[in-house]
Amino acid sequence: MNLLRHWFLKIKWHGWQKLNRQELIHYIAQKILDVSETAYLDAKFFVEACEKSGVNITNEMIDNFVELRQKGMPVSKIINARGFWALDFYVTEDVLDPRPDSETLIEAVLEYFSDKNQYLNILDIGTGSGCLLISLLYEYKNAKGTGVDISAKALAVARQNAKGYPAEFFEKDFYSDDFKEGLRTYDVIISNPPYIKTADIEQLDKAVRFYDPLCALDGGFDGLDAYRCLAKEIKPLLKENGLVFFEIGKDQKDDVVSIMEKNGFSFLKSYKDLGKIERILVFKVN
Ligand SMILES: C[S@@+](CC[C@H](N)C(=O)[O-])C[C@H]1O[C@@H](n2cnc3c(N)ncnc32)[C@H](O)[C@@H]1O
Repeated sequence: MNLLRHWFLKIKWHGWQKLNRQELIHYIAQKILDVSETAYLDAKFFVEACEKSGVNITNEMIDNFVELRQKGMPVSKIINARGFWALDFYVTEDVLDPRPDSETLIEAVLEYFSDKNQYLNILDIGTGSGCLLISLLYEYKNAKGTGVDISAKALAVARQNAKGYPAEFFEKDFYSDDFKEGLRTYDVIISNPPYIKTADIEQLDKAVRFYDPLCALDGGFDGLDAYRCLAKEIKPLLKENGLVFFEIGKDQKDDVVSIMEKNGFSFLKSYKDLGKIERILVFKVN
């Protein structure tokens, strides 16, 4: 008798609540095997999220989970949680799903600012869920953070994630003339701005195209609009010896370095992500 049939019989006779945790994960995973390459992990995250929030899993919840996964919704957006660096973040459809590749930015900052007791002021431009800024505040216990974003809904998510951390958030558009108003000077400026070419957005995976906000993705015709703008704007926001850490898209290194150099910055170093793609660039003012 195959496993699925075994579970179905067990469920029929005893109710599926009689399945042990592992069996339940397998049971749910079997239902999404054809739509997810990570079916077991997805099911495990779902069960864990229910356990953490103390809710009893119902048939409706399983059906709903399966239906949303079949539509291509990422698990994180279904369970409203995503692990990043050392923390669990609340996520909704209003924020970009934190990506493992972005953890490279945290590693880069930690390498340049190796004393974790430093009193750093950190500015995160395009903070989204706040995952980058809050992970740095978690590492640097004496640091203070400012996060800005054009999306009020994203900022509401970031504020929720930042509870208990010394962080402030402002709704700001870096293309607007008053972008710098109310901001101070910072030791560290980080940004993972939208960097996908407009024409490439249609080809993105369903999970990204439909469930990450467009304003987190669209970097304009060549994907570089945000870097061109930030390169012009951010110099007055940096303290002496302050550094800039940018996340970039695949093959954007030369263009972003050239944009920054034309605007009075020197390129210091690049960092590769888990897939060996140059992902983080570090700059200082000339
Ligand atoms: C790629 S997401 C990064 C989110 C988060 N920092 C992360 O790494 O997961 C880019 C973020 O920039 C914000 N954004 C886009 N255009 C902006 C603008 N003109 N001014 C300020 N923020 C902007 C988006 O709302 C989005 O939250």
